[in-house]
Amino acid sequence: MKTLTTAAGATGAATGDPFRPAFHYTAGRNWLNDPNGLVYLNGTYHLFYQHNPFGPDWGNMSWGHATSRDLLNWDEQPVAIACDEYEAIFSGSAVFDEFNTSGLGTAVNPPLVAVYTSAYSDASPLAGRQAQSLAYSLDEGRTWTKYHGNPVLDRESAEFRDPKVFWYDGGAGSYWVMVAVEAVQRQVVLYKSADLKSWEHLSTFGPANATGGVWECPDLFELPVDGNLQDTRWVLIVNRNPGGIAGGSAGQYFLGTFDGVAFRSDSTVTDGLQTDGSRMREYGWLDWGRDYYAAVSFSNMPGGRRVMIGWMNNWDYARETPTGAWRSAMSLPREVSLIRVDGKPALRQQAIDPFCGLGAVQYQPGPQALAPGVLALPAEAGVARIDVEFRPGTANSVGLLVRSAGDERTIISYDVAEGILRLDRRESGNVRFHDAFPSIEAVAVPLQDGHLRLRVYLDRCSVEVFAQDGLATVTDLVFPSPAGTALAVFAQGEGAHLVGLDVVG
Ligand code: FRU
Repeated sequence: MKTLTTAAGATGAATGDPFRPAFHYTAGRNWLNDPNGLVYLNGTYHLFYQHNPFGPDWGNMSWGHATSRDLLNWDEQPVAIACDEYEAIFSGSAVFDEFNTSGLGTAVNPPLVAVYTSAYSDASPLAGRQAQSLAYSLDEGRTWTKYHGNPVLDRESAEFRDPKVFWYDGGAGSYWVMVAVEAVQRQVVLYKSADLKSWEHLSTFGPANATGGVWECPDLFELPVDGNLQDTRWVLIVNRNPGGIAGGSAGQYFLGTFDGVAFRSDSTVTDGLQTDGSRMREYGWLDWGRDYYAAVSFSNMPGGRRVMIGWMNNWDYARETPTGAWRSAMSLPREVSLIRVDGKPALRQQAIDPFCGLGAVQYQPGPQALAPGVLALPAEAGVARIDVEFRPGTANSVGLLVRSAGDERTIISYDVAEGILRLDRRESGNVRFHDAFPSIEAVAVPLQDGHLRLRVYLDRCSVEVFAQDGLATVTDLVFPSPAGTALAVFAQGEGAHLVGLDVVG
């Protein structure tokens, strides 16, 4: 099998670094959080990210940088935009200013423009504020210059951040749109600009649905339903922390319309600030696990593709994850689309597959009845992709035990009567580094024609589950012992069938 490598080229066990992912991006050293400035240009995907160049904890926030030609193998690049004594460089986005609307490049060499949050320090005359600023690159993202007129948008707010900018071209005209948050007010604010430098307020959305924590890292994009360009919805992404569906950080989304001025949600369940969390399961969640946050999408993608990456961690315990000199990884990139389910548009997410065309099929038994109990499988699944399809029939539950050795295991189970898929990491290995870490995640997943299909990606410290071809996803970190590579299927009660199982890795 071709070896899967990270930016650091580290292959985990070989370097005495048992949790270093094989196919998720980590910085070679030091801290990382949100993906920033995701942009495609001339065959290269750029992943910028919140990074502390000087240590494995949050601080000195700057934009780290990595590049890839396939969204899977990343090469770490020098820090792109560094903090200084006046400002930390918080989250934001990047656009290819093809027609040099900003004047920051030339017609023959148009710029990449990063729109980031200046989080001003005490040394700055703007101390205590957060405002939006520009930096530009004239060499395809290698080097960046801060715009001398920064900030370009200041609301005199202490919590105004995370600008996501895109080019709007529709009934209302053609211009840049920025979505950003007033984090504490749980509002997404929308602005327009002709040149990325001067901005005019368009509208404000929220609070709505999940409002327990602050709102952060928004995104707004249009997707066809079932590939039909005449039937589209706009997707508003709002990451929020804490108070996510599984606890701590999580991403929610709204489906609706955008007329170039305002986003109108078709999926608002509750309006205004919520103190009652009882309707949480009715909201749209990007992921039902603990470790998919600050997810945003790439801009300038060819072919209208929409690909998102999330930070695979949770502010509840991110500073304490037991990984040593590096800390935190990105999720697998996910292609997002809308398909109609029971007459209504639903968000589907499918990972860009690191195993596509790679690796031997380790184990592929034929369809078979599953007797009640646990069936150990003759497969090593430490770094692996597992595709499994169950027909639970009259059984009470079916599922998988992954990353298991001795008393350690992560349990992926499906309760047939409840129609609930669970991911239980309470005995997944090292869970003691933080009280909030041992957890069970749960998501309602209807069977389809009596079948449950799961695609599971296992890496050295993560489990990502895509249920029913990506209609629900559950992402959790786990810190098992390196020996924990055993895999089993189980059923409780009679009548279950294993329709298919495919382990690659
Ligand atoms: C989200 C976030 C953003 C902010 C950045 C700072 O995780 O809090 O709102 O810009 O991280 O690192």
